[in-house]
Amino acid sequence: DERRRGDAVCPGSLIVVSNRQPYRHEYEDGSETDRSITVDEPTGGLTAGLDPVVQQASGTWVAWGDGDADFDVANENGCVTVPPAEGAYTLRRIDLCDEAVDSYYYGFSNRVLWPLCHGFPTLIDDRTNDFEWYRTVNERFANAVGDHATDDAVVWLQDYHFALAPRMIRESIPADATVAQFWHVPWPAPSTFQHCPAGGRILEGLLGNDLLGFHVDQYADRFLDCVNRFLPAATVDKNRRTVRDGGERTRVVATPMGIDAETHARDAESADEEMFDALCSEHGLPDLDETVIGLGVDRLDYTKGIPERLAALERFFERHPDWRGEFTFVQKATPSRTEIPAYERHGELVRSEVERINSRFESGGWQPVVYTDEYLEEAELCSLYRNADVMIVSPLVDGMNLVAQEFVAASVDDAGDVLLLSDRVGAHELLGSHAVSIDPTDVDDFADRIAHALAMPAYERRRRLDVLRERVFDADLDRWMQTQFDWIRRVHQDPRSRGPD
Ligand code: F6P
Repeated sequence: DERRRGDAVCPGSLIVVSNRQPYRHEYEDGSETDRSITVDEPTGGLTAGLDPVVQQASGTWVAWGDGDADFDVANENGCVTVPPAEGAYTLRRIDLCDEAVDSYYYGFSNRVLWPLCHGFPTLIDDRTNDFEWYRTVNERFANAVGDHATDDAVVWLQDYHFALAPRMIRESIPADATVAQFWHVPWPAPSTFQHCPAGGRILEGLLGNDLLGFHVDQYADRFLDCVNRFLPAATVDKNRRTVRDGGERTRVVATPMGIDAETHARDAESADEEMFDALCSEHGLPDLDETVIGLGVDRLDYTKGIPERLAALERFFERHPDWRGEFTFVQKATPSRTEIPAYERHGELVRSEVERINSRFESGGWQPVVYTDEYLEEAELCSLYRNADVMIVSPLVDGMNLVAQEFVAASVDDAGDVLLLSDRVGAHELLGSHAVSIDPTDVDDFADRIAHALAMPAYERRRRLDVLRERVFDADLDRWMQTQFDWIRRVHQDPRSRGPD
């Protein structure tokens, strides 16, 4: 397969819209006097994956400028050419005041839409003004897109931060331009969506897209069910997965996202023993060479099922005392959205559970759970993946979960590592059949499956991992992007998209 990063070809002038930006300009620490500016390069995930595509297309990227030097390097319109060395595309930064960030990002996006889409309606915190700020920020992004949109523009929005912008963009840019969006989180069932403040406006906003992508069929079908129930004037064709709302048609597709598997494998291959030892000593991890290693890598988010995973580990050590001192579980957690009380409470719960379980089982310098929330470079993360024998990915719900795929790509040794995977994540469709599948809330069964994974014969581990690797490399990030662009091309060329069927 000859595919390389950035090979996906966009069928028009590409304008990407995302909340997070690919490059951030910052003043170097302590440089009060010389004000030297550093640039963070995109690392991992969507921004790193999309960057070469936008470079190749010489496109435009619209994003929130959250670096302290961002607007000192930009022109009066908030534009800067990136990457700094080559200068391949325009990054248009949107400057958000503190109140906007608090209400749009920490508010409606992450106190309302995030818990709603993940099926936690009781955690919805709909504060006065948050929706209005969400609308205002969506409008500012939409106006910025309007400044750059040509007749052949392909506007590609990312995620739940922009549910209202598609309609605003559709109404203000040339009729021949295409508006598409990928929704990276799950879509809830109508019984949950009914709790969405301004739910009708959210749906109408999204129907401004010509194309709306989800990771899996279930989310696409639930979206259509919600339109059916809450927007009676719209016409839904569930078989063709289309919605007609007024004159225009939105096509809904399920296209599971992949990772840049090659880069993860390459990073893991260069992460030798020495690097792993350095990583352990730098981050205060014990001598992990002495034991079998289990690993969890998550943002500290209540959707990730970390307390449930710790409960299963506790049950496992209760039932299998022979594994005490022989198996260590490393939990790498990334603090996230800490200004939101539900996240703060969740972080405290995780840390106190780790302490409690450790004090229950620790002996002779060994601890069952090693917890770190320190920042790790991508290469260090790949070193952890490579050295882990068993990876546990157990969210209560997750749109896709790219960590499971990263672990598989970075498992480059012959030993054959085992993936335990929640049956409630999008990645389960791709990997569930050859992972050890778990129900994250069934503590006894979960503990049994940890034991099963640890006892799995080498040939069986190898056989499963081979299949997992084939799937992750085949359905990678470039393929996902090409699939998106193929759909955009189809939607764009289909004369029935606009006007009557
Ligand atoms: O899963 C949705 C998502 O927006 C990802 O794209 C991103 O990696 C993650 O959540 C982190 O979110 P934030 O930008 O809020 O830190």
